[in-house]
Amino acid sequence: MANQTKQRALVFGAGRVADWYLNIFFPDLADRCEAVGLVDVNREALRSYGEPRGLWPHACYDSIDAAFAAVDAGDLEPTCAFVVLPPEVHYEAVAGCMKRGIPVLTEKPLSDDLAECLAIEAALEPSHRVAVMQNYRHSEGVRAARKLVAVGAIGRPHAVSLRFRTDYREFGSWDGPARHEVPHPILLDAAVHHLDLLRFVSGKEFESLVCDEWVPSGVTSFAGGCCVNLMARMTDGVRATYEASVVGAGEPRSWTGEEIRVEGELGALHVIGPRLWTERLEDGELVKEEVALEPMRYHHHMQAIVDFLDWIEGGDVEVPTVPDNLGSLRAMFAAVRSAKDGAWVRLDTLGPDAA
Ligand SMILES: NC(=O)c1ccc[n+]([C@@H]2O[C@H](COP(=O)([O-])OP(=O)(O)OC[C@H]3O[C@@H](n4cnc5c(N)ncnc54)[C@H](O)[C@@H]3O)[C@@H](O)[C@H]2O)c1
Repeated sequence: MANQTKQRALVFGAGRVADWYLNIFFPDLADRCEAVGLVDVNREALRSYGEPRGLWPHACYDSIDAAFAAVDAGDLEPTCAFVVLPPEVHYEAVAGCMKRGIPVLTEKPLSDDLAECLAIEAALEPSHRVAVMQNYRHSEGVRAARKLVAVGAIGRPHAVSLRFRTDYREFGSWDGPARHEVPHPILLDAAVHHLDLLRFVSGKEFESLVCDEWVPSGVTSFAGGCCVNLMARMTDGVRATYEASVVGAGEPRSWTGEEIRVEGELGALHVIGPRLWTERLEDGELVKEEVALEPMRYHHHMQAIVDFLDWIEGGDVEVPTVPDNLGSLRAMFAAVRSAKDGAWVRLDTLGPDAA
């Protein structure tokens, strides 16, 4: 087990998701971790989070550079960092932490630019601790499904699928206007979680894929593909399909309630949110069995943060490291390329210019 010490966290970002870290996750883990420095270009946000924590103004920084200057000068001594900034500035914060030997957990995606992801991978040294937030791995159903597939409960898997459907038909309802206005809103935001789940549950890696995205006729609230159909080949001959819509008008299969199905030679397993069941044909009769799930103390972000803290304290924990996460990121970048070109894309042909 890890040597637990209270970690001193430098938090990059004081926006919407950083609020979860500062007001929900850290208070729940008060014996494991506390914020000792905050970074955001928005000084009002800095002040509102910094003041109640006694960090304003001496440990609040209005640029990434200013925070690292304080670290270099010895004015700030974080033992870890959390990057909760927009994806386009993740690289600057993550690379700066690596250079200074600060263990870092960054929000997804590692970067919105594959060249930056590859540069981080190339700079990794054995002593570096860099992990990526893939919070959807941490639910009872998903974890149990992964274990059942790994122990052969449905025989050799041959196909895995994930369906995601949610209702953001009203303009702005997906966390404000930006996602409704950008190209590839599903592929560049949600898909990295779902592609990661397809890998995580099946235990297989993406090799090649083809992806179609579209805006259904009559939908005016999205400029970019708000529906996605993706088909992929994975290692060991497994096939994957991913179906996503953020203009779903039927029964939702939304965040944490996604529908995952794995087909194997002896049967299938099915996860929807907190439910998992197996199915097999016995003498032509369908036998369905609900699987009793082991309750987890923490879920989603909380479990990912606990795993990260255990990992940097020497615990034997599986976390999404950069090399692991590149399997999901390459699939995400390949999906964008394919959605533009309409062709199959092999992941091993993606270069740094893939973004
Ligand atoms: N894991 C999940 O389930 C999940 C869910 C939503 C968002 N996210 C990720 O969380 C991250 C943050 O998203 P958000 O919704 O909180 O965004 P946000 O826009 O609400 O907050 C980002 C903050 O970063 C600040 N900022 C921007 N550029 C900066 C810079 N150069 N230097 C310092 N500060 C800067 C902004 O002022 C803002 O306060 C993103 O990477 C996003 O993909 C993850």
